[in-house]
Amino acid sequence: MDKNDRSYTNGEITVHWKSKECVHAGTCFRELRKVFDPSRRPWIDLSQGDTEAIIDIVERCPTDALTFERGDKTGELGGTAAAAAPDKIKFNIMRNGPILAEGNFVLVKDDGTEQEIKSITSFCRCGVSRTMPFCDGTHNKQGFSPDEY
Ligand code: FES
Repeated sequence: MDKNDRSYTNGEITVHWKSKECVHAGTCFRELRKVFDPSRRPWIDLSQGDTEAIIDIVERCPTDALTFERGDKTGELGGTAAAAAPDKIKFNIMRNGPILAEGNFVLVKDDGTEQEIKSITSFCRCGVSRTMPFCDGTHNKQGFSPDEY
């Protein structure tokens, strides 16, 4: 298990998210935005959807970034959903994708409003996201592939 991995439960199932496996294909948030909302923290809220609908989406994840188990497994995992964020903010530039920022910080927008960011956030690097400054997966549709990274 990677320290960035997270688990979320609604008591019926536990959904596991492995950030390093995620290619931001966007199936989850396009089809079940109430549960998988990259602009919200935490971005997965299983209380916002039907368990079988969530399972359907998780099973359609093109990588194994999203998986699930029956029951509440967060206790066995040491409560990773509420795991403490690292002391430092870590930026991970995804090849042909967004910049992942991990840690606790405050995002100050150009209008001066502030948004507290916790855990992992993906910032758009391609310039076409509809949820700026966050990545919404649109880079996949446009074939974003800068010369480097
Ligand atoms: S990097 Fe993902 S939408 Fe821009």
